[in-house]
Amino acid sequence: MIKTGTKTNYALVTGASRGIGKAIAIQLAKDGFHLLLHYNHNKEKVWKVKEEIHALGTSAEVIQGDFNSSEGIQSFIDRVKDVLSQHSSMPLHTIVHNAGHASSNGFGEVDYDEFDQVFNANVKAPYFISQALVNHVQDGGTIIHISSGVTRIAFPHMMVYSMTKGAINTMTFTLAKALGPRNIRVHGVMPGIIDTDATASWLHTEQGQENAKQMSALEREGQPKEIANVVSFLAGEKASFITGHNIDVTGGSHL
Ligand SMILES: NC(=O)c1ccc[n+]([C@@H]2O[C@H](COP(=O)([O-])OP(=O)(O)OC[C@H]3O[C@@H](n4cnc5c(N)ncnc54)[C@H](OP(=O)(O)O)[C@@H]3O)[C@@H](O)[C@H]2O)c1
Repeated sequence: MIKTGTKTNYALVTGASRGIGKAIAIQLAKDGFHLLLHYNHNKEKVWKVKEEIHALGTSAEVIQGDFNSSEGIQSFIDRVKDVLSQHSSMPLHTIVHNAGHASSNGFGEVDYDEFDQVFNANVKAPYFISQALVNHVQDGGTIIHISSGVTRIAFPHMMVYSMTKGAINTMTFTLAKALGPRNIRVHGVMPGIIDTDATASWLHTEQGQENAKQMSALEREGQPKEIANVVSFLAGEKASFITGHNIDVTGGSHL
C-alpha cells in the first residue's frame, strides 16, 4: 500500500521559499504531508511558507542549504538526517528536487565557475541528496525531479541549463529502474514558461506576454500551482503504476 496524505510522513521539497517549490510545498501540505522546506537565501520567505503550512493543520521544518558547492550540498544532507533522526516515527515519503537556477550566459560566454555552479545546483544536488537519503525513503515512496521543457526545445542561450535538465531526465528513468524493486517511483516534471521570479523580468513585459502566447498551444504562460498539481498527483496513490517518465507540462509548447 502507498501511504500518502496520512499526516504520518514527510515530504522534502528543495527550493521551497518561492515560485514552483513554494506551490508544491503548500499543495503537499494540503495533501496531508509534513514538510521539510529547503531554502538557500530567502529565510523570511520560507518562514512565511512554514506559517502558511501550519495554518493548514500540518507541520514544517526549515532547512538551509547552498547547492553551489559539494560542501554546501553535504551540509544540507547532514542537517536533513539530523531532523529525520529526531522524528523517526515520521519517515520520508517524497523528495521533490525543485531547487535550481539557470546560467545567465549563452554558448560562447560561459566560464568554468558558472558551468560548475549550474551543474552543482541542478544535477549534483539532486543526485547526492537522493543517494544519501534513499535509505530514509520508505518503500512505496516517490522521488520527483523538476526538469524543464528546454530538454525538448532548443534554446542556445540556455545551453548549460538545458544540459543539466537533460541529465536530470536521464536520472529519472535510470533511478526508477534502480528503485523499482522497493516500489519507490521516480518521476520527472518538465515545466514550460511558468510565472515566477525566474521569468518575471521578461515575462511581465508586453513582448514577453506575446512570446509566451505564441509558444504554447494554450496561448499563455503557466502558474506554479499547475506544476504543483502534477507533483501532487505523482506523489499520490493515483500514480501508483507510473515510474521513470518525464511529463511535459508546457501547455503544449512548440507543438
Ligand atoms: N519558472 C519557469 O519558467 C521554469 C520552467 C522550467 C523549469 N523550471 C524549474 O523549476 C524549478 C523552480 O523554478 P522557479 O521558477 O520556481 O525558480 P525561482 O522562483 O527562481 O526559485 C528558485 C528556488 O531554488 C532555490 N535555489 C536556487 N539556486 C539555488 C542554489 N544554488 N542552492 C540552493 N537553492 C537554490 C531558491 O532558494 P532561495 O530563494 O532561498 O535562495 C528558490 O527557492 C527550477 O529547477 C527551474 O529550473 C522553471
